[in-house]
Amino acid sequence: MRFDERFLDEVKSRLKLSDVIGRSVKLRRAGREWVGLSPFSKEKTPSFYVNDEKGFYHDFSSGKHGDLLSFLQETERLSFPEAVERLAAEAGVPMPSPDPKDQAAEKVRQGLGDFLELAARWFEAELRRPAGATARAYLEGRALPEAEWGRFRLGYAPPGRTALKDYLIAKGARPADLIACGVAIAPEDGGAPYDRFRDRIIFPITDMRGRVISFGGRALDPQAKAKYLNGPESPLFHKGATLYGLFEAKKLLLLAEREVPTGPRPSLAVVEGYMDVIASQRAGIAAVAPLGTALTEDQIDALWRLHPEPTLCFDGDGAGQRAASRAMDRALPKLRPGKSFAFAVPSGGKDPDDVLREQGAAALKAQLAATRPFVQQLFEREAAREPLDTPERRAGLKARLRALSQEIADKDVASAYRDDLLARLEASAPRATPVRAWSSEPRPQRGRRGFDPRPAYPTTATLQARAAAENLPKKLRLIPAAVAWYGVLHPDALDPYIEALMEVGFHDHALDLLAKRIGDAFVDPVGLDTERLTGHLASSGLGDLLVSLEKAARESKAPFLDPERSPVEARRIWSRAFDALIELAQVEAALAAAKEDMARTLDATHQRMLRSRQMVLERALSDGSLFAEPEA
Ligand code: UTP
Ligand code: MN
Repeated sequence: MRFDERFLDEVKSRLKLSDVIGRSVKLRRAGREWVGLSPFSKEKTPSFYVNDEKGFYHDFSSGKHGDLLSFLQETERLSFPEAVERLAAEAGVPMPSPDPKDQAAEKVRQGLGDFLELAARWFEAELRRPAGATARAYLEGRALPEAEWGRFRLGYAPPGRTALKDYLIAKGARPADLIACGVAIAPEDGGAPYDRFRDRIIFPITDMRGRVISFGGRALDPQAKAKYLNGPESPLFHKGATLYGLFEAKKLLLLAEREVPTGPRPSLAVVEGYMDVIASQRAGIAAVAPLGTALTEDQIDALWRLHPEPTLCFDGDGAGQRAASRAMDRALPKLRPGKSFAFAVPSGGKDPDDVLREQGAAALKAQLAATRPFVQQLFEREAAREPLDTPERRAGLKARLRALSQEIADKDVASAYRDDLLARLEASAPRATPVRAWSSEPRPQRGRRGFDPRPAYPTTATLQARAAAENLPKKLRLIPAAVAWYGVLHPDALDPYIEALMEVGFHDHALDLLAKRIGDAFVDPVGLDTERLTGHLASSGLGDLLVSLEKAARESKAPFLDPERSPVEARRIWSRAFDALIELAQVEAALAAAKEDMARTLDATHQRMLRSRQMVLERALSDGSLFAEPEA
């Protein structure tokens, strides 16, 4: 029996290739893939690769390549239907009943598919006949030359009321078939059916294997009621489950990954219209479009089967941004570890097709590559709803952000979203709320006390005198230097930071040794004052460093070194800055570890959040907003 493609996809999407194969082949992680000893040949060095995302395996020793079904057929000698049955049971998907009615329906679908293919060829031919002159001129005018028509199977539906119908009837179709497959319309008054597409450029819509399942048509007449017209729902065409361009996009993705197997993952763009898909694919970018409706859940799942983080690229105009917003609402509850969307907006309110025509392929590529993470797009949309100038409005936003993160079904992603969104809120207007969101708990105090924090500036001369030879760092980064210098002046302030100091220092490698030595100095149970500390540091060869430290600190104009500030206020600002440096170091360490980690313990979503956190912190540090005092 012939299995429905959607049924097979459903079965495969519920099973992980590496789980099923892993039962008979010992697999270990290798980057995006799994690797093990070939089940097809005797080998000592593993050359059998399994890729869960793409759903196939490749065995370099035997050259065998396939998916779950072929694996079972190969290794367990099952027939195709047997393999399907086994996997369907495992996936918990009921087998389609071998009901004669279903078989009849499948036959009908096949028949309709044949007529649609005939229609597609006929439209293609019409574009090249005399009647297609205006259409040809239109396409050329839109910078779509004849050389490109074949690839996208572009065609033309001439103006006559029954031209296609007459052709297909002559080929053996019944009028009912033409209505069922959507190329003809039955008038309500019971009159004779007539062609749905008239005087339109035709874009064949295919399923994921490239078989024609419907058409889209663009009016040439600017007076036409609908600029674009799609075929209706039919036994073959489910608008909400189809993406225009998917078959071609799949090919482009595979091609790109084969060309640069270790390079950055090629992107998969989701654009708004037929012409945008064509423009993007001409520029070598895998692209698809929904069919004139908001992105559906089925489409989101189909996209994620192809790519963990497709780029939503809706037009820069109001309608496009509303579409992006709707897509965001649809996708939000479905976000899960490793599956998300990124956003790109073509500049100047253009669509991808405009960009390709006006600025070329490189510009389009660049604009599609400049993406922002889902969480950022979401935050900005919410923050833009109203001004955040009162505590009530900020609290309102906070409540909305919490509610939105609760919509995410996956618990881990939901809590990571809550943290990230709230951190963005804190960082968004440090005048109204303290930036120190990530350390609202007071740090535990270590037992050592009893020291008067009276500042005592050691003279440069003393320091230099004490200095031993040490390579001077060229230039210290100002904020870390200022934070460290304050610590030297007020060693008691460092007390709660000793662990952090030993772990991550001041977030500047030039100061790592200094951090270590300060940590050492704290071993001394006697209260540490500036004099003792600088003495200790200078005698461990850091005298010169202290000199540059003071200079950089002065240059930084950090408010906590401003003698006009009250000591309490200065201390508070300083610890906020130190907290940010420590967190930044931790975020960077986590990202670096994730990069090294072949087992991918940290999923992509989490990494993205870390990166956005990194950006927020870096910004707060570099533009000084970190230092802004919270309003009383
Ligand atoms: P746009 O109106 O943005 O058109 O519709 P476009 O793609 O830029 O078209 P050109 O460049 O003028 O040819 C985007 C998509 O929305 C759907 C179609 O799928 C279209 O590609 N649409 C639009 C419709 O289904 N019906 C319409 O009347 C208009
Ligand atoms: Mn357009």
